[in-house]
Amino acid sequence: MNEQAAILLEHLGRDFGATRAVDDLSLQVAPGEIFAFLGANGAGKTTTMRMLVGLLPPTRGRVAIGGHDVWKEPRQAKRAIGYVPDTPILHELLTAREFLWFMADLYNLPRAEGQARTAELLAMLGLQDAADRLIRDFSLGMKRKMAIATALLHRPEVLLLDEVTNGLDARAAREVKDLVARWAREDGVAVLLTTHILHIAEELADRIGLIHKGRLICVGTKEELAQLAGRPGANLEEIFLTLTGDAVPLEMEGEPA
Ligand SMILES: Nc1ncnc2c1ncn2[C@@H]1O[C@H](COP(=O)(O)OP(=O)(O)OP(=O)(O)O)[C@@H](O)[C@H]1O
Ligand SMILES: [Mg+2]
Repeated sequence: MNEQAAILLEHLGRDFGATRAVDDLSLQVAPGEIFAFLGANGAGKTTTMRMLVGLLPPTRGRVAIGGHDVWKEPRQAKRAIGYVPDTPILHELLTAREFLWFMADLYNLPRAEGQARTAELLAMLGLQDAADRLIRDFSLGMKRKMAIATALLHRPEVLLLDEVTNGLDARAAREVKDLVARWAREDGVAVLLTTHILHIAEELADRIGLIHKGRLICVGTKEELAQLAGRPGANLEEIFLTLTGDAVPLEMEGEPA
């Protein structure tokens, strides 16, 4: 086992009653790497994320961040994590600036640093003109950007992004994707993101893991997955459908079911 991995999942599993939501999932993500979990609705992506950030106890296996077991050394592990949940929870009656100052306090950042970091992140995410408006009056995309800013306040070494571009318009999604790539390349941040949108995984990820009914059915670069699917040169949609067992013969594509 490599404790140097920024993100480590070992034989991770979670049941909800009789439902095996996540099943025997093992994976390591290195510093500076972008890894995408790609899977259909209900595949187990969010459940995996929630176990990684310490919100949902695993039924089996373990998770570690920067060598710290999330469930045995939660403080050390959580200090290293920036998490953007699929449905962000914000204090709607604070302004954007107030909320980020408040969160910086929770992270124990010195006041001056918290204020400087707030200004920097509001500018980076194009929210500077909305800094002193109530979050309640923000659009969906603006709220998503606030969640991203919050996750970055303490300069985490590991970013866990659950459907991070949901609710963002094309330009904002482009900006966020570019930012994520930059954090990984320049700052060595390990990024684990979930998406059911094929082109996001294709564009951003160094490696892609296909999750199907709670199981990680294969992991690799897009080219490696194409090899596995026996379809060299195929696009990710064809690979995905082949490897998740829902493949339609190519000549059948476009024909009514
Ligand atoms: N708190 C819960 N109680 C019971 N079942 C749950 C709970 N959370 C998730 N599940 C079940 O676990 C399975 C995986 O759900 P999960 O939210 O992880 O999927 P997902 O891959 O994130 O899907 P989506 O793309 O729709 O976000 C589903 O069958 C879901 O119904
Ligand atoms: Mg989800």
